[in-house]
Amino acid sequence: MAILELVPDVYSVGSIDWNRTLFDAFIGLSKGTSYNSHFIHGSEKTALINAVDPEKEEELITHLIKLKVSHIDYLIALHTEQDHAGSIPMLLELFPAATIICTQSAKELLFHHLGVDPERCKVIADGEQLSLGNKTLEFMATPWVHWPDTMLAYCIEDKTLFSCDLFGSHYATSDLFLTDFAEGEVLAKRYFAEIMMPFRASILEYLDRLAAKEIEIIAPSHGPCIKPASHIVSLYRTWASDETENLVVIPYVSMHGSVKRMVYYLSDILIEHGISVQMYDLTTADTGDIAASLVDARTLVLGVPTMLFGPHPLAASLAFVANMIRPKTKYLGVIGSYGWGGRTAEILGELTATMQAERLDPVLIQGAPDEQAYDALDALAHVIITKHREN
Ligand code: FEO
Repeated sequence: MAILELVPDVYSVGSIDWNRTLFDAFIGLSKGTSYNSHFIHGSEKTALINAVDPEKEEELITHLIKLKVSHIDYLIALHTEQDHAGSIPMLLELFPAATIICTQSAKELLFHHLGVDPERCKVIADGEQLSLGNKTLEFMATPWVHWPDTMLAYCIEDKTLFSCDLFGSHYATSDLFLTDFAEGEVLAKRYFAEIMMPFRASILEYLDRLAAKEIEIIAPSHGPCIKPASHIVSLYRTWASDETENLVVIPYVSMHGSVKRMVYYLSDILIEHGISVQMYDLTTADTGDIAASLVDARTLVLGVPTMLFGPHPLAASLAFVANMIRPKTKYLGVIGSYGWGGRTAEILGELTATMQAERLDPVLIQGAPDEQAYDALDALAHVIITKHREN
């Protein structure tokens, strides 16, 4: 990443990871990512907001050398996950006078994850300010976006919010600011779905607090900066709200064709009654795409064959993920086919135990769908159509 000036005396010194395809050994990245780090040259003090992934620490150091940074007063660790804090131990060696500014939780996590000496940390309180001379940073504790340690930093003079993971996107681009808002929205939504959605309630609270501040620029720790800030803030308000769309998401697996016939039969009825359907074949679908569609979906219907005694592993995995990311989906259905028996519905129920969605009666049939099976699917479709109309 080239060194770019975000606002006067604030420099983007992080790294673009063009070729990363997987995050957390699970989340697929279609457009790489970036680890954004910002150096602030205040009139009295200097600060570095967040570091980078340890794989990219050489790039960060090169940028600091190019900027002729010989002294850092404050290393501001907004969050201790390794993609932002992994190179802090190296920075502490290079800048022995630097003090880490972080939350109490981050201080503990920095020690446990990276062996950082707690004596190097100064804990900052929610709402506390730090003066760099002509620039003042105000901190806002925002636990659970993404870890319990997380905080945001707002530069009062520059009206710039350093938002860490919040408002981010896995989006490698040479543009300092987002220019393609359509592509940016797709990537930010996917990021929200996989990383932020479990924390919707907290996010709404933080959005209310941020509304009291005049924010012109949002500088997240992943992806391009955003100006006007209102663009991503209003998207987050919608995504984090309880509002759903007239959409049924149907991820399915079919081993011998029965489940496929069932899901297509159900989706045809729904579409004919004005409901949008998004169908995913789990043998090829991208989990991030499914997660993004669950940001809006009113209903999730899993199409599942029974394998041995329980749900097909691909469907079980998707159920586990849906349970983990906690979408606002209001209704949850299961349809599928079994050979001789099994506990598919019960196991899926256990895997989705913390989802708030109302459970619809499952339609599980033996073997290939017959007239009775199609009648059951008609009944399920009728329930979904009625419930969607009520909403
Ligand atoms: Fe980008 Fe939670 O780290």
